[in-house]
Amino acid sequence: MSGEDRQKSPLAAIVSILVGIGLSVGVGFWALGTPGHDPVGNAILTARTAMSDSFDTLRSAPEDGHPDWEAASMVLHDADAERGASLIAQHGCGSCHIVPGVSRAHGTVGPSLAGFRDRAYVAGVLPNRPGDLVDWLMRPSVHSPDTAMPDLGLTESEGRDMAAYLYTLRQDR
Ligand code: HEC
Repeated sequence: MSGEDRQKSPLAAIVSILVGIGLSVGVGFWALGTPGHDPVGNAILTARTAMSDSFDTLRSAPEDGHPDWEAASMVLHDADAERGASLIAQHGCGSCHIVPGVSRAHGTVGPSLAGFRDRAYVAGVLPNRPGDLVDWLMRPSVHSPDTAMPDLGLTESEGRDMAAYLYTLRQDR
């Protein structure tokens, strides 16, 4: 220990004792000064309200001006939804599916893909998330061996573009 430290420490001890006394007296007065009041309980309540408010913020929809986490999780980076729509037309998905926004896509062999973004599952076997949807489009037979949907030999980039288009289809479309 250097001489300087030895000189400082008694002063530090006095300061911390003074601060300690000041705080307890302050809190004591605050607690006593408002009869019929429960300052600690109130503080906890305020903190809990603030916490649940911030959780609500996380869940809220984009029109509140807060981030839409669900939309963000549906994003396929660098995928081209417009190209996806043309690919869906080219590969004849519409012979089996109704696909809003794609011409001549009126097939009824498979389920309608209207509002697909709001669907919970892909073909009832995979969670409806970008990676799993792309996987399904590329190799449906792997995930559902008896499915009537054929493996169409899509590349991953084609699958991603198609998935991006399918995620533009909300419940009203
Ligand atoms: C020969 C008919 C056929 C073709 C062609 C076809 N599908 Fe399918 N598709 C199906 C059937 C049948 C299902 C239902 C599968 C199941 O539940 O096992 C399905 C399921 C799906 C699903 C999941 C739907 C849901 O409600 O969960 C998506 C997405 C999909 N197909 C997209 C496509 C795309 C994109 C193409 C073109 C690349 C395509 N399909 C081509 C028959 C087809």
